[in-house]
Amino acid sequence: MSDLTPQIQRLVIFGATGDLAARMLLPSLYFLDSDKLLPDGLKIIGSARSEMDRDAFVKLVRGIMDKRSEGVDEAVWKRFAERLDYCAADVTKGAGLKALSEVIEGRPSIYYLALSPSLYGAVCRALDESGLSCGECRIVLEKPLGHDAESSRAINAEVAEVFEESRVFRIDHYLGKETVQNLIALRFANTLFEPLWNNLAIDHVQITVAETEGVGDRWPYYDEYGALRDMVQNHMLQLLTLIAMEPPADAGADSVRDEKVKVLKSLRPFSRHDAQQMAVRGQYKAGVVEGKTVKSYEEERGGPSQTETFVALRADIDNWRWAGVPFFLRTGKRLPERRTQIAIQFKPLPHSIFGQAADNDLSANRLVIDLQPKEDISLLLMNRRPGLAGTRLQALPLSLSLDDGGRRRIAYERLLLDVILNNPQLFVRRDEVELAWAWIDGVADSWADSGQAPRPYAAGSWGPAGAFALLERSGRAWLDE
Ligand code: NDP
Ligand code: BG6
Repeated sequence: MSDLTPQIQRLVIFGATGDLAARMLLPSLYFLDSDKLLPDGLKIIGSARSEMDRDAFVKLVRGIMDKRSEGVDEAVWKRFAERLDYCAADVTKGAGLKALSEVIEGRPSIYYLALSPSLYGAVCRALDESGLSCGECRIVLEKPLGHDAESSRAINAEVAEVFEESRVFRIDHYLGKETVQNLIALRFANTLFEPLWNNLAIDHVQITVAETEGVGDRWPYYDEYGALRDMVQNHMLQLLTLIAMEPPADAGADSVRDEKVKVLKSLRPFSRHDAQQMAVRGQYKAGVVEGKTVKSYEEERGGPSQTETFVALRADIDNWRWAGVPFFLRTGKRLPERRTQIAIQFKPLPHSIFGQAADNDLSANRLVIDLQPKEDISLLLMNRRPGLAGTRLQALPLSLSLDDGGRRRIAYERLLLDVILNNPQLFVRRDEVELAWAWIDGVADSWADSGQAPRPYAAGSWGPAGAFALLERSGRAWLDE
């Protein structure tokens, strides 16, 4: 596909020997090549401190692809392998990128930083000093972008010294998921929802990202961040903004991002008092998940920790559309099932005309958007049970399955293609990331001020008791209760 963006000729993955590159980036690039979506002549250059030659890197990538369930097509592999190259570099060393600049040959390039964010400033400076930051070059930054608002501003400022904002692509891989992109279509390609999308019709919103996996070997990273910074600051707030934003003027990147920013600005800040009432932290103990006995977080980590592996919180959006509609967010490791779901709970009927027997089954309408493991949008509607035995109501889902039976794409495929196409719509703008951190800082500070330690929960349960009380206090319940 040579005509897409002929100008990008090199894609450098810094951190090419790491976990993200192996699980997501290299397979995504292979699949894009398989669909003939990579520009002709695009070279993919792996880089890390480890010394190896091109052949060893090609072998490493082949090993990664062989381990996957999809199988390797030899014709695609031949084309893909020809694109691969490797160049060892330590981005913290002054002369680190000298060899890389010889491979890049001054061509317009994308630099993907699959590295610790503490290295982002150093890489940008090194790229600049080596003459590798040309006007067409783009930089891709992975999360987490900092640890709080201050550190994220510092990283963004270091990057901005070399790359202006239009050339910076901040990844939140949730935005690359098919169902997340479909949220915009659902809301703004249907007339049905918009008149009801407000506090007159909607009672509350629940966003759940539940994982059965534990933290495992990732604890050195995770222990510093915890579920609030690892999941809520980015993925969950992105989902919240897409649900809550006003209709943008058009689908252009800045129109959509401007609206998301307005939602972040309207999030009610947390006060010290809110920590007790509005945000629950938990940490998993040993338990049973999917039939298997699993260790506690502290056993995995090898010692005590005050890091949360579970968060449930109530977010309020102080604007005309959402005043009085709580958004309940919940995420955790070692929960009973893998489920990423957004549920929009509509208000109950103001008055029922059916008799008491029928009313027993009367539920309020609900729109459920399932992102994982199934991809599905369903609208729960009431209807009458067929038969002669009087009116009995039942709730039935009107379902829009997004599963077309084909291979489910890795979210990074969409995002990598968009960087190549120079389309920033699914990337997070600097002000978005900094505002999201500022709100998260409020939650973290209120936990710290009130000395709120994570509450224990058994692996395989839906989190500590406080998570249930959080909804009960407002007369509501999580959908799985
Ligand atoms: P890993 O620790 O697995 O990999 C880090 C990579 O960086 C290795 O290739 C390492 O290779 C390289 N590296 C380390 N120091 C230097 C240096 N000074 N110069 C050049 N290369 C260096 O990390 P991950 O792949 O897990 O994560 C990378 C980034 O992606 C992080 O920001 C992470 O938060 C983010 N991320 C990761 C996810 C995941 O699922 N893994 C999910 C979402 C985000 P070497 O030691 O050979 O130099
Ligand atoms: C990452 C987090 O950003 O997202 C992980 O660092 C988490 O802790 C992962 O497991 C979840 O992503 P997904 O796509 O599997 O829901």
